[in-house]
Amino acid sequence: MNRTSEHLTLLVSEKQIADTVRRVAAEIRRDAKETTPVCVGILKGAFVFMADLLRALGEPVELDFARVSSYADSDSPVSEPVVEHDISLDIEGRDVLLIEDIVDTGRSLACLVEHLSARSPRSLKIAALVDKRTRRQFRVRLDYVGIIFEGGFLVGYGMDFAERYRNLPAIYELRPRHGDQ
Ligand code: IMP
Ligand code: MG
Repeated sequence: MNRTSEHLTLLVSEKQIADTVRRVAAEIRRDAKETTPVCVGILKGAFVFMADLLRALGEPVELDFARVSSYADSDSPVSEPVVEHDISLDIEGRDVLLIEDIVDTGRSLACLVEHLSARSPRSLKIAALVDKRTRRQFRVRLDYVGIIFEGGFLVGYGMDFAERYRNLPAIYELRPRHGDQ
């Protein structure tokens, strides 16, 4: 497979992303005026959004990372999400903000919310850059949403297709390029 087998269409420009990040950061800071939130980026995809969001949020914040992976279960065709990398900070009594690049079925976020809720944070909120809400299968409440996207597959600004395109500075819709196999 080479790079020309996919076609990318610009969907959200760098300027639109910057405006969106500023707006989301203002909403978060308005709600977290008196506190130091523990910001938990969900690897790998959230790393670019998180870097920009945290700089827009300003002080004070603390930072950590988690990673959720889906593994095929031998008894079932549906894969179960697993917390593959856990946070290192103690979140008991803290205000936690989960930061995700894109929410699709909601399965991985629902798993992480359950996992972290067991540690008794004071609050647990979610900021997602992209909300594919028409595809939701698991109930998760997104407190801060950058962009609502109805369908298709996105790459860039942290989001990948087979680990590629995460470093593109804008967001693109990816489609197979017909007649170019
Ligand atoms: P969910 O568990 O079904 O909500 O899937 C969420 C995860 O799948 C995201 O954190 C992404 O890593 C990945 N994902 C879902 N949709 C896309 C997409 O359009 N582009 C890139 N990654 C995606
Ligand atoms: Mg992700």
